Amino acid sequence: MPIVQADRLTRIGAALLRAAGASDEEAKAVAVGCVNANLAGHDSHGIIAIPTYIDRVKAGHIVPGAKWTIVQESPTTTVIDGHWGFGFHVNAKAMALTIEKAKTANVAACTVFRQSHVGRLAAYPLMAMQEGMIGIATADSGRSPKIVAPFGGREARLGTNPISIAVPSDLDAPFYLDMATSAVAAGKIALAVSRNEEIPKGWIVDAEGRHTTDPGEYKKGGALLPLGGSEGYKGSGLAAMVEVLCGLLTGLGFGVEPTGRHNDGCFMAVFNVAAFRPLKDFKKEVAEFARYLKETPPSEGSTGVFYPGEVEYIREQQRKLSGIEIEDATWDKLRELTAEYQLGAELDFR
Ligand SMILES: NC(=O)c1ccc[n+]([C@@H]2O[C@H](COP(=O)([O-])OP(=O)(O)OC[C@H]3O[C@@H](n4cnc5c(N)ncnc54)[C@H](O)[C@@H]3O)[C@@H](O)[C@H]2O)c1
Repeated sequence: MPIVQADRLTRIGAALLRAAGASDEEAKAVAVGCVNANLAGHDSHGIIAIPTYIDRVKAGHIVPGAKWTIVQESPTTTVIDGHWGFGFHVNAKAMALTIEKAKTANVAACTVFRQSHVGRLAAYPLMAMQEGMIGIATADSGRSPKIVAPFGGREARLGTNPISIAVPSDLDAPFYLDMATSAVAAGKIALAVSRNEEIPKGWIVDAEGRHTTDPGEYKKGGALLPLGGSEGYKGSGLAAMVEVLCGLLTGLGFGVEPTGRHNDGCFMAVFNVAAFRPLKDFKKEVAEFARYLKETPPSEGSTGVFYPGEVEYIREQQRKLSGIEIEDATWDKLRELTAEYQLGAELDFR
């Protein structure tokens, strides 16, 4: 597997997206967002996704340069139609506007619909965190094909419906949660297939509803399981609530759209910490709280406690130095695309 530095990977991703029709701004938003996911260790949402996004542009499912419209708003709320633009770009603009509203109103929320995949969800709450605010985001996949079976079922009826919350603190590693409500993100199954690896039991069931460690069974009619193993009803419940916020509140609805077009509905909310208590005190106490958690003696077999977001930060520091390992199947796809767009020499692909 090649090991590639983050800046080269970003250059490759952005050049391919531009060649596929994205504007400079869109290409940068998507490529940086994907490579940030790789840096954080979420390879399932990294550069591996760019060939899929290009396929969706070719199919007309993603519309480069799509205009962005507000269909309803108040001083604290906004409903945004992404007109099938790149989710990374549309959703970041939606969060930026929500933060601006919260600067005046202290609390603001938005819904976004008709946009493509938003990638690593943490990217958006982290924008609020940088402004001294608490950011919350949830996302579903609109009425695109479902992949998670509700607890007790064998057929997919839910998306992987992630939740992310980021809070400001004095810590070096940002304190944020970023998780799918399925046992894992769907991209991790695709990654295991690309890497020819088995997956742990409890991630998927096959088409007959049997537990399996073969990731290939997922594409043969299997389904992801909700978060929580034998207590998966809690993951299932969280996923259902995310669907209500992102599918029903946005007006996208539930179920599957026959065209199969990917449609990341999003609900995001921002709270200005200073409206509740002095930001400086809050940031200090969150850092103390994280240290308090970490001081717990490790349980058997554990290397110790990590607070939410810490694992990603550690990986990011390592990968910024060591580069990012890219599975051969993904690298080959990127090479094919550079050949298709005659960018091989410019991007130093041999
Ligand atoms: N856009 C979408 O449609 C979509 C859908 C699903 C998932 N995703 C993204 O996929 C990515 C992966 O999600 P996931 O649920 O598979 O990730 P995951 O299972 O790695 O869980 C990540 C969360 O758990 C925390 N964590 C991980 N290891 C830990 C440890 N040892 N101790 C304490 N905390 C720990 C992390 O800090 C993070 O908050 C996320 O970025 C998510 O936003 C996106």
